[in-house]
Amino acid sequence: MRVIVIGGAGFIGSNLCKRLLEMGHQVACFDNFSLGNEDNIRELEKNSKFELVKGDASKLDELDEVFTTFKPEYVFHLAANSDIQASASNPDVEYVNTYSTTFQILSCMRKHNIKKLFFSSTSAVYGDKRDVELDENTPGLAPISYYGAAKLGSEALISAFSYMNDMSVLVFRFPNVIGENLTHGVIYDFMHRLKEDSSQLRILGDGRQTKPYIYVQDLVDAMLQFMEAPQGVTLYNVGVEGATSVTKIADIICEEMGLKNVKYNYTGGEGGWKGDVPRFQYNIDKIHVAGWKAKYNSDEAVRITVRKNLEA
Ligand SMILES: NC(=O)c1ccc[n+]([C@@H]2O[C@H](COP(=O)([O-])OP(=O)(O)OC[C@H]3O[C@@H](n4cnc5c(N)ncnc54)[C@H](O)[C@@H]3O)[C@@H](O)[C@H]2O)c1
Repeated sequence: MRVIVIGGAGFIGSNLCKRLLEMGHQVACFDNFSLGNEDNIRELEKNSKFELVKGDASKLDELDEVFTTFKPEYVFHLAANSDIQASASNPDVEYVNTYSTTFQILSCMRKHNIKKLFFSSTSAVYGDKRDVELDENTPGLAPISYYGAAKLGSEALISAFSYMNDMSVLVFRFPNVIGENLTHGVIYDFMHRLKEDSSQLRILGDGRQTKPYIYVQDLVDAMLQFMEAPQGVTLYNVGVEGATSVTKIADIICEEMGLKNVKYNYTGGEGGWKGDVPRFQYNIDKIHVAGWKAKYNSDEAVRITVRKNLEA
């Protein structure tokens, strides 16, 4: 199949491109490199079935060009501003890179009569519902970050475009995803900071923020397993067993890096920053019943990620 991965030079996108090539698909990676980087896809560029297209998915003319030349049959939409902390002081970036990209991708699919789409949504669409076990039908979605709002708005656009144009769309609400080629997030930050100064570590919040972390290869397995979605929108919470606190992540990183007596300096407060949801728990029965289960629990995913990033 001819597959385009929009946001393909990022963390999850680059891992997905690799797996799609291994399966024998023809892959175009479209990215504006606002957060992704060429190191993530350098190896893939040697593969004759891979092509890299630099462009902005919030611009219809740039999408139109690649859709005209590459003629994709399946679109993976992973482009977004994934740096939620940064957009707290600049909501415009969510409007352009998270929301407008979705509108323009759907418009381009409509123009080119392309029916198959995968969309990477997020637990952030639920907002702060820390005492509720979140399932796909949890009512009252009320995001508290600009990022969550732009993703929820994207889901609404997808619902209408899918209905109006008979599309088949698979939407996953990811928890925290970690693994090879990280571009951001708590593990990425802690490892970088400890390489610079191994005597102390600044930890945002009180360290008790506790969330499920999924290993990226588990997530990609699920994306590929459910690629052939029926007409309409199929939505899954994708998650793992267990959850890991920020302090536990710091402990695992120090252990794996062989560091002892690192002083943790907590900035205090429940969340890492305004808009951060400090705890959430997913009900993942729906995707389990459909036949997928993660191989690794949350703590295991953290440990593997640290090891993979130390090896890189
Ligand atoms: N990593 C997580 O924990 C997580 C959790 C929930 C949802 N998601 C979603 O999964 C997707 C992939 O996330 P990731 O962790 O790989 O992040 P990432 O930042 O590494 O990847 C996103 C990619 O999109 C690209 N991009 C952004 N705006 C673009 C634009 N206008 N045009 C073209 N490319 C653009 C970036 O350069 C980057 O390469 C994102 O949509 C993100 O919101 C990620």
